[in-house]
Amino acid sequence: MSGKLKVFVTARLPAVAVNILRERFDVSMWDSENDIPKDILLEKSRGKDGLLCLLTNKIDKKVLDEAGKQLRVVSTMSVGLDHIDLNECKARGIKVGYTPDILTSATAELGVGLLLATSRRIVEGTNAAKNGSWGTWKPMWLCGPSLEGSTVGFFGLGRIGLAILQRLKPFGVKCFKYNTLNEKTKEFETEHGVTYATFNDLLATSDFLISCSSLTSATKNIFNKEAFDMMKSTSIFINIARGGVVMQDDLCQALIDGKIRAAGLDVTTPEPLPTDHPLFQLPNCVITPHIGSATDETRTAMAVLAARNLLAGLENAPMPSPYEL
Ligand code: DGY
Repeated sequence: MSGKLKVFVTARLPAVAVNILRERFDVSMWDSENDIPKDILLEKSRGKDGLLCLLTNKIDKKVLDEAGKQLRVVSTMSVGLDHIDLNECKARGIKVGYTPDILTSATAELGVGLLLATSRRIVEGTNAAKNGSWGTWKPMWLCGPSLEGSTVGFFGLGRIGLAILQRLKPFGVKCFKYNTLNEKTKEFETEHGVTYATFNDLLATSDFLISCSSLTSATKNIFNKEAFDMMKSTSIFINIARGGVVMQDDLCQALIDGKIRAAGLDVTTPEPLPTDHPLFQLPNCVITPHIGSATDETRTAMAVLAARNLLAGLENAPMPSPYEL
């Protein structure tokens, strides 16, 4: 038996990340890219000093209980933390690490990609080209709204929202608005050329509405029938945050009824979305499988940062990226 601290890694990660841990700890890993079943997560967490998890692993009271009192660090390879019972971690003195910042650019790129894919109907167009419905060049076929001269609204304007805003400026957007829990300072607004809007105003005036907010009790299901009813029938809704901010049935109905024009979703409820889900039948809905941060560089950097957080946390050194509980 080694006297080393024990850690469990809940998915197969790049070797460069796992090796950071192997040098110091007794490491076991769920050596698969498929989601670890809950019963195995519970079993493998038992007796561990640290866990390195993904956003798909619910780190709830049950997991923390099963792990035991020696558990000192939970490090997640994500910026989102809604899968971790943070209150329980705080109560138990368990340190939490996460991976913000390094995924901002990649996620912003995907956000812009979804905006363009939905507004310029890229998926519809690709399918039409493939399936023979292309025909001749037609004056108004597969047209969509232009970003130029539009109003873009952000629900949540943290690192990722701001990175999208910066990337959209060269498109000639007329007006950027945002709604967040805490209004930003006037200096911030001036610096970034963005104005605060109430949630209702954001809904009513945005041509493109981008959800970049974290999932909390305040944001859960906030995009519901009432919200979609308030949006322009020409507007496009993008969600790169968490599926839980949307009442998905209401979104589906809004797209069918033409309450809004289109939606681009990188996140859904559940994930994966069953292939027979009605949203997949809608030509005005583009769905990607939660790939916001999926660039080679970003995912590797996230894995390495998660490993470094775990290493530092267990060695009582300052974590490179702690979440302050
Ligand atoms: C996160 O990290 O929370 C994103 O949703 C995936 O990279």
